[in-house]
Amino acid sequence: MTTTHDGASRTSNRKLLDWVDGMARLCKPERIYWCDGSQAEYDRLCDEMVQSGAFIRLNSEKRPNSYLARSHPSDVARVENRTFICSERQEDAGPTNNWTDPHEMRARLTELFDGCMRGRTMYIIPFSMGPLGSPIAHIGVEITDSAYVVVNQRIMTRMGQPVLDVLGADGDFVPCMHSVGAPLAPGEQDVPWPCAGNVEDKYITHFPETREIWSFGSGYGGNALLGKKCFALRIASVMARDEGWLAEHMLIVGVKSPEGKKHYVAGAFPSACGKTNFAMLIPPKGFEGWEVTTVGDDIAWIKPNPEDGKFYAINPEYGFFGVAPGTNAKSNPNAIASLEANCIYTNCALTDDGDVWWEGLTEEPPTHLIDWQGKSWTPGCGRPAAHPNARFTAPASQCPSIDPEWENPAGVPITAFLFGGRVSTNFPLAFQSYNWEHGVYMAATMGSEATAAAIGQAAMRRDPMAMLPFCGYNMAEYWKHWLRIGRQNVATPPRIFRVNWFRKNEHGKFIWPGFGENMRVLKWVLDRCDGRASAIEGPIGWVPGWDDMHWDGLDFPPEDFFSIMNIDKEVARQETVEQDELLTRFGDHLPREMELERELQLARLYHSPPVWDLSRAVAR
Ligand code: OXD
Ligand code: MN
Repeated sequence: MTTTHDGASRTSNRKLLDWVDGMARLCKPERIYWCDGSQAEYDRLCDEMVQSGAFIRLNSEKRPNSYLARSHPSDVARVENRTFICSERQEDAGPTNNWTDPHEMRARLTELFDGCMRGRTMYIIPFSMGPLGSPIAHIGVEITDSAYVVVNQRIMTRMGQPVLDVLGADGDFVPCMHSVGAPLAPGEQDVPWPCAGNVEDKYITHFPETREIWSFGSGYGGNALLGKKCFALRIASVMARDEGWLAEHMLIVGVKSPEGKKHYVAGAFPSACGKTNFAMLIPPKGFEGWEVTTVGDDIAWIKPNPEDGKFYAINPEYGFFGVAPGTNAKSNPNAIASLEANCIYTNCALTDDGDVWWEGLTEEPPTHLIDWQGKSWTPGCGRPAAHPNARFTAPASQCPSIDPEWENPAGVPITAFLFGGRVSTNFPLAFQSYNWEHGVYMAATMGSEATAAAIGQAAMRRDPMAMLPFCGYNMAEYWKHWLRIGRQNVATPPRIFRVNWFRKNEHGKFIWPGFGENMRVLKWVLDRCDGRASAIEGPIGWVPGWDDMHWDGLDFPPEDFFSIMNIDKEVARQETVEQDELLTRFGDHLPREMELERELQLARLYHSPPVWDLSRAVAR
């Protein structure tokens, strides 16, 4: 083994050099490699992975400079039950996070990492979350033994030597330690997707006080690309709490009217609610002259600016790590156009002519494929061809709808926050909170349906602010932070709205067409913020009346609109009562505003008639 490396010629940052030396002594890699972030380096690593069988090069006419990777079948998604917040005190992690004593976890990790990179290369990846040098950006350094992680990080973050130059001798960074947890014995042949075999051997750990990440045993997505969920959400949420900003699981879109008025909106949606589609929305018929542009599809870092009273947001990422199945030229033409070249595909199916395919890409599947596990596949064989969590890693710069300001280091000013779950009954298409506190309550009690297969019924999974798996500290303290931010920093914080695209009729069919038509809701939201649209005071917020929405180009009967706006008060009351289950878990940490808002909502829902009917409210 040799631990000599050229770190000293790349950076004079003592903290970084000492950390790398210490980790090299612990992990005992075969060699150490400092990533420069160049195209030549990326190409070389991809070539090496093609040679070793870790990557398949796709047909260069159909998908130039693109690759397919197949993971081990046991390593296909984020592992929430193996994700830990190791704060000094358990109550600082809160009841919704897995907590382990940090000293105990450090001891366990030290054992696991001891010699874990034997026979492998240890890569050092300096990366910036956010445009290099932006006052909202932060630097991380990931140490990993996975070349797959290196090349994905080059798409997902700004990475390499320019980051070290910005870091300088004294700059601070978040250390992100990663190993697939599969050392090689001398002469042992590597496998295409090394990882720890058992799920209990995977650890995605966060130390909020020291702002460190240690991830062991998985090579997949958010478990391994540590800039994303681990840093940009879990650790950054703690930094944001301490420094007075917000790190959120939010997309950011720009909306420009035909008159040239531009707004930006940030939206939090739980996983699997069509977030990437909404981030790349194409305005429908009836919205000629409107433009919707993409700043980000997953994460927003937002800083209130006391000077002008606005909230400025950046997308800390540089690429999209999107779910492939269901993405097609109809559901998301901008995503499809982003995927033409220079992408990495993971767990997609391979066509006979060297292209990728996934369920929903085309109406008719190809007659033959190689599935995500490398097996021959034909339609009707009873297995999915792509894994349901198959992914594309695509440079954001390739997205046709990318916003001209997406790399502005100062960020873009946010006019409104949207919060949206997936609710099939009784939950309106859109409504606005009465005020900031009420908005925080609406966002904190957000739920999304998960189908409980056993009973065939939809069950509500609470996902406050879509941050349940991503908040690095006590969720109730996080709500307090939101309440503080709205109150203290600016005179007019962004307005807060809830949306729901997923209401179904009695036949189980979606009533709202969704996709591009969601533009109609976006327009009402912005009209409200501009003081141009009226709204009707309903029992759970301000709702748009029929005349407040722009209907040109869509044949959507008023009865259908009313049917997705009406509220059965008893059902809503029951739902409000059930929020107790979430709120009481936080004990004394619960901000009293939450309890107060809930009481107010219950009071509003007590009044007759039993159904709050928008069509009648309009007539009054
Ligand atoms: C994601 C998620 O992968 O939210 O973005 O799960
Ligand atoms: Mn996400």
